[in-house]
Amino acid sequence: MILITGATGHYGKLTINFLLNNGVPANQIAALVRNEEKAADLKQLGIELRIGDYNNYDSLVKAFTGIEKMLFISSSDIINRETQHLHVVNAAKASGVQHVVYTGFNGKNQSESSPLWLVSKSHLNTEKWIKESGINYTILKNTLYMDFIPMFLGETVLKSGTIYLPAGDGKVGAALRAEMAEATANILSSNNHIGKTYSFANPESFSYGYIATYLTQLTGKSIQYISPTAEEYVQTLTTLGVPTDFINVLSSFAVAQSLGELDSTGSDLETLLGRKPTTIQTFLSQVYTTATNP
Ligand SMILES: NC(=O)c1ccc[n+]([C@@H]2O[C@H](COP(=O)([O-])OP(=O)(O)OC[C@H]3O[C@@H](n4cnc5c(N)ncnc54)[C@H](OP(=O)(O)O)[C@@H]3O)[C@@H](O)[C@H]2O)c1
Repeated sequence: MILITGATGHYGKLTINFLLNNGVPANQIAALVRNEEKAADLKQLGIELRIGDYNNYDSLVKAFTGIEKMLFISSSDIINRETQHLHVVNAAKASGVQHVVYTGFNGKNQSESSPLWLVSKSHLNTEKWIKESGINYTILKNTLYMDFIPMFLGETVLKSGTIYLPAGDGKVGAALRAEMAEATANILSSNNHIGKTYSFANPESFSYGYIATYLTQLTGKSIQYISPTAEEYVQTLTTLGVPTDFINVLSSFAVAQSLGELDSTGSDLETLLGRKPTTIQTFLSQVYTTATNP
């Protein structure tokens, strides 16, 4: 039995669909969910629902009973993530899970000096706990979801003609979330990945300067890229009334990118997919030449 945690989220649902496409029978898949109502579609597919919350160790021990392989999708609760993840690893050990596949983070700076330390610290500690547990593991170092690039560009990028981010000339090897989920399902569907760490990234990284140039060519509208200092950026967005937490997320990823921390590329994703991952050019064409973005 393969259990998918975070099964009501994007990555979890995508992975379950790819597992089914790979021919894994629905009755061999279980989904960890904390809200059964949110998982009605999974139940409909014949997936067994296991109720559990990362905050509740006992619920996890119960939910993981009889599970051989588990996709451990990292929590979206960054503040409480370390405690939650320790619960998950300890519960997996206590329940006799034999193989944990973990969605980690592909950041180059693994020290406190990183603007993304809050994000990466919990991932690095989780990887350590998984390895120390003695459970067979596969670590996925996931790059930034390419799906989030429009969020960084801003909703009005085509109207304003400006990309405004403190990312300098830094690049990111972002990849589509769905393709990382597909590669994950390919790993879960076979038995050849124990002890491996994969770097999920696009073979080519890109900068926001490049995106501005490409969008200009693509849409015929002049798009400029302005890279302010982090302080100017925070000040400007605060004045515009953007919530502080959101500004901090955008700013820390952009600054990390300016420092080269997200410039990971590699062939692991391509190898596991059996084809080239979607490029930024294809993605931008799909997003910015549709009827909703005239
Ligand atoms: N690489 C990237 O660019 C990137 C970007 C964003 C996030 N991430 C990380 O990747 C993970 C998966 O991404 P996603 O897009 O699938 O995120 P998502 O759609 O927000 O899904 C998060 C999943 O985690 C579950 N979850 C949250 N807190 C939980 C708890 N206390 N106990 C049990 N389950 C809990 C959620 O359950 P509910 O449905 O009940 O809320 C949901 O199923 C995220 O959680 C985050 O750690 C990566």
